[in-house]
Amino acid sequence: MVLKGSSILFFSLLISSFLSPTHGKKRTDALGLLYKAKLTKNSAVDTSGFEVIQHDSVEVLPQEGRKERDRIEKLPGQPNVAFYHYGGYVTVNESTGKAFYYYFVEAEKSHHSLPLLLWLNGGPGCSSLSFGAMQELGPFRVHSDGKTLYKNRFSWNHAANVLFLESPAGVGFSYSNTTSDFKKGGDKQTASDNYVFLLNWLERFPEYKNRNFYISGESYAGHYVPQLAHTILHHNKKANETLVNLKGIIIGNALINDDTDAVGIYDYFASHALISEKSLYQIKKYCNVSVYGPTLSSDECMAVANEVDKDLENIDIFNIYAPLCHNTNLTQKPKKGSLLDFDPCSYIYVHAYMNIPEVQKALHANVTKLSYDWESCSPVIQDWEDSPSTILPLLQEFMENGLRVWIFSGDIDGRMPVTSTKYSINKMKLPVKTAWHPWMLNGEVGGYTEVYKGDLTFATVRGAGHQVPSYQPLRALSLIMHFLAGTPLPNTSRHD
Ligand SMILES: *[C@@H]1O[C@H](CO)[C@@H](O)[C@H](O)[C@H]1NC(C)=O
Ligand SMILES: *[C@@H]1O[C@H](CO)[C@@H](O)[C@H](O)[C@H]1NC(C)=O
Ligand SMILES: *[C@@H]1O[C@H](CO)[C@@H](O)[C@H](O)[C@H]1NC(C)=O
Ligand SMILES: *[C@@H]1O[C@H](CO)[C@@H](O)[C@H](O)[C@H]1NC(C)=O
Ligand SMILES: *[C@@H]1O[C@H](CO)[C@@H](O)[C@H](O)[C@H]1NC(C)=O
Ligand SMILES: *[C@@H]1O[C@H](CO)[C@@H](O)[C@H](O)[C@H]1NC(C)=O
Ligand SMILES: *[C@@H]1O[C@H](CO)[C@@H](O)[C@H](O)[C@H]1NC(C)=O
Repeated sequence: MVLKGSSILFFSLLISSFLSPTHGKKRTDALGLLYKAKLTKNSAVDTSGFEVIQHDSVEVLPQEGRKERDRIEKLPGQPNVAFYHYGGYVTVNESTGKAFYYYFVEAEKSHHSLPLLLWLNGGPGCSSLSFGAMQELGPFRVHSDGKTLYKNRFSWNHAANVLFLESPAGVGFSYSNTTSDFKKGGDKQTASDNYVFLLNWLERFPEYKNRNFYISGESYAGHYVPQLAHTILHHNKKANETLVNLKGIIIGNALINDDTDAVGIYDYFASHALISEKSLYQIKKYCNVSVYGPTLSSDECMAVANEVDKDLENIDIFNIYAPLCHNTNLTQKPKKGSLLDFDPCSYIYVHAYMNIPEVQKALHANVTKLSYDWESCSPVIQDWEDSPSTILPLLQEFMENGLRVWIFSGDIDGRMPVTSTKYSINKMKLPVKTAWHPWMLNGEVGGYTEVYKGDLTFATVRGAGHQVPSYQPLRALSLIMHFLAGTPLPNTSRHD
């Protein structure tokens, strides 16, 4: 299966730019390419259930002294802050020379007691440093000059010690000395490597070994997060010991279950007046969308696909009401950064910043002088081997094992929209524990929530696109605080 250069029209519309602006000044569609490959007849992507790759033993290498060496003194153009941050490499396979880059931000206050939260972006192939750390929930945002940073006062390190991981190999600064390691990626290999990373990282930061640990992520991380969680449970059980103190997971605008995800996308387009009812009807009739994604073969399907394509051409599908980035030049003087009004050209600024040699030096990144630039979404991963059609069985497993499971959805994302998420959750047929109700923040409706027996919480974030903390940083922070505290989202604005 080839992710690049496939010529099927249909998904160029559908998923073009699935994962937001990415590649330098261009926009890539990592997830779109995957879907294209997955849903094409005779696809070579393995969509069967997820399984842990078995190793005789997991390599945990000595990490002494490495934490101190990873501490970041100060990033170029960085404002002063009162917390420590770290960046560096963790070897995940010594024999092939595979190493993952991480960026770790300690909590502003109480870092000794607050939980450890891992954040993963999706793609496949997109960087948690680019999106998560620098455009969503990290402590800094990059100014329009591409050189200086400003503080994100809604950073999630108010609530947790936050670990951002660039994964798999070939993403961002993460690399392998063996090209075959990153040319071909896959869910199973990613989960396995992420697990090895985590054990080694905990060895380097031993004070976090017994800390309550949570995994979060968005989009294609709807696969990565549950698969890593499953791998952790698997190894804990095998060892009859809590090797990783996993307490829960939270995923947003996430791929969950391919067939319901696909139907939900078109229902969302039509219900939000982006495509006609006629197109919706024809998509469902000719593209076999309800069975397993659209079948891409018939002429009738192609015709309506082109129609839909035209309707969506000039919309940012990651936030259907957002302005587009019209000027991709950096500015001489930094524009005043606005946290509450997300700048659609942010990806340009981040790309410029991450490619500055002094920045890479300060981050302890790119120490092996990689032959390609740092990109928000990987230009080097070309194939994806396996991607199960559903992760619902994993969510069921977590509930049976008493993990906290939250699913959130920015409700103006057209890529993995709230309709898709609702249909996917409905597939589980869970009894309702707390009926649907608005949740409040500062006298406004932050979104809506429903809690199911078992214990799964679904929450929308009102007015947020695909990258929820980019568009609604305050609501996102409130959401993660409630998740970590295990408290229900409030009906009223009173502080609890
Ligand atoms: C390291 O890579 C080699 C070669 O691909 C593989 O056989 C081995 O299982 C890998 N080890 C781990 C821990 O993933
Ligand atoms: C990859 O190769 C470079 C150059 O030989 C070496 O410095 C580096 O340590 C290797 N990376 C890993 C993870 O082994
Ligand atoms: C697992 O560990 C517990 C105590 O930590 C012990 O009581 C139990 O017998 C162990 N089970 C197995 C299968 O070794
Ligand atoms: C829809 O897909 C299913 C499963 O692949 C297949 O059996 C059926 O024939 C398809 N229907 C059409 C109209 O293509
Ligand atoms: C962007 O920069 C280029 C090269 O300096 C310049 O020619 C162009 O006019 C600029 N575009 C805008 C919209 O400012
Ligand atoms: C790594 O450094 C080299 C040499 O400075 C540079 O050309 C390359 O773009 C960098 N790559 C990444 C991924 O940072
Ligand atoms: C919020 O309202 C719902 C529905 O009215 C109710 O079931 C639930 O108990 C309330 N939750 C809180 C935290 O007050």
